[in-house]
Amino acid sequence: MFDRKTLLVTGGTGSFGHNFIRLALSQHDPERIIVYSRDEKKQHDMRLKYQDERLSFVIGNVRDRNHIMEAMRGVHYVFHAAALKQVPSCEFFPMEAVQTNVIGTHHVLEAAEHHGVEKVVVLSTDKAVYPINAMGQTKALMEKITLARSQSPQSTVTYCGVRYGNVMYSRGSVIPLFVDQIKSGKPLTLTDPDMTRLLLPLSEAVRLVTFAMQHGEQGDFFVRKATAATVRDLAQAMLNIFDADNGIEIIGVRAGEKLHEMLVTAEEFTRAQEFEEYYRISCKHDRNYEQFFTRGIESAKFASEGYTSENARQLSVREVEQLLLGLPQIQDELTQWQSRRPARKQAA
Ligand SMILES: NC(=O)c1ccc[n+]([C@@H]2O[C@H](COP(=O)([O-])OP(=O)(O)OC[C@H]3O[C@@H](n4cnc5c(N)ncnc54)[C@H](OP(=O)(O)O)[C@@H]3O)[C@@H](O)[C@H]2O)c1
Repeated sequence: MFDRKTLLVTGGTGSFGHNFIRLALSQHDPERIIVYSRDEKKQHDMRLKYQDERLSFVIGNVRDRNHIMEAMRGVHYVFHAAALKQVPSCEFFPMEAVQTNVIGTHHVLEAAEHHGVEKVVVLSTDKAVYPINAMGQTKALMEKITLARSQSPQSTVTYCGVRYGNVMYSRGSVIPLFVDQIKSGKPLTLTDPDMTRLLLPLSEAVRLVTFAMQHGEQGDFFVRKATAATVRDLAQAMLNIFDADNGIEIIGVRAGEKLHEMLVTAEEFTRAQEFEEYYRISCKHDRNYEQFFTRGIESAKFASEGYTSENARQLSVREVEQLLLGLPQIQDELTQWQSRRPARKQAA
């Protein structure tokens, strides 16, 4: 699908961007991949790392309508990953989140429409589902902006999206925190041991986005099914694989946090299609006021629950260990940890 095509990845220097671009360059033969982001250092590092003439780097900001309009010229497929995604910064500066996640998305979609792009996939998060913080609220609006465009009768572009929960080992998430705590001999801190989290490796998130680009129809949002675990079991699995005895400390619930992640609401379940690995949530309402006021779908029933980290398949501690051991970052950390082990044993 990507052979001889031009792809644009907003936020292409981020975790998703790196992994997607590595895969796209090795498994496909795109004409060009445009990496669109603000910081020149990240782009410089990426240019040196890949040294691939199919990559082109554009410094820009999705908040700047004219600039993204210019960058979109000749593009076939857009992956919109640029976002402000930290809960506290969006909470403290909500208008910054609006500027990037809402208005920035509007600019990206407008530019795609203007230049006759074939398809756009936007990346969303569990935090956009029943959102309780400004990050989630702005990502929820990003989804709505995408859906509204998908239902426009004038639209020539196919607009779809994906939602996924915390990616394992992503920056600021709990697994790298546990690694740091283990390395510095501190107890692993949990907010609530019964909190559950879906455990999705980044490679699976990339596969989900690629699947959406390849198979998504107008207004589809895709959710990858994943396995889950309580944070208690996750912490125990980390201690086991590092053969560490740091112990566990409960620090209480932090601001902006949910007990369980939700990826599909009960309301969305009534119109979601289930596949072996995915849910597809289709947009069923088009621009029809009747469907909101006077007309229902006879066969549709309210579902009693959505898809959450609580009702996804729960892994045992042993299974979490296996999943963790499959992560390249954990493998690297374990190699370093084991090489320091004799010194640590002697010191003890
Ligand atoms: N990581 C997760 O756990 C997770 C989970 C669910 C959903 N997602 C979604 O997946 C997407 C990608 O996440 P990620 O983990 O790759 O994020 P990331 O590592 O933080 O990367 C974000 C990227 O966006 C760029 N960016 C930020 N603001 C921008 C702006 N105004 N204009 C242009 N570029 C901008 C950043 O580069 P510069 O700073 O140089 O501009 C960077 O390249 C996001 O939309 C996120 O909401 C992520």
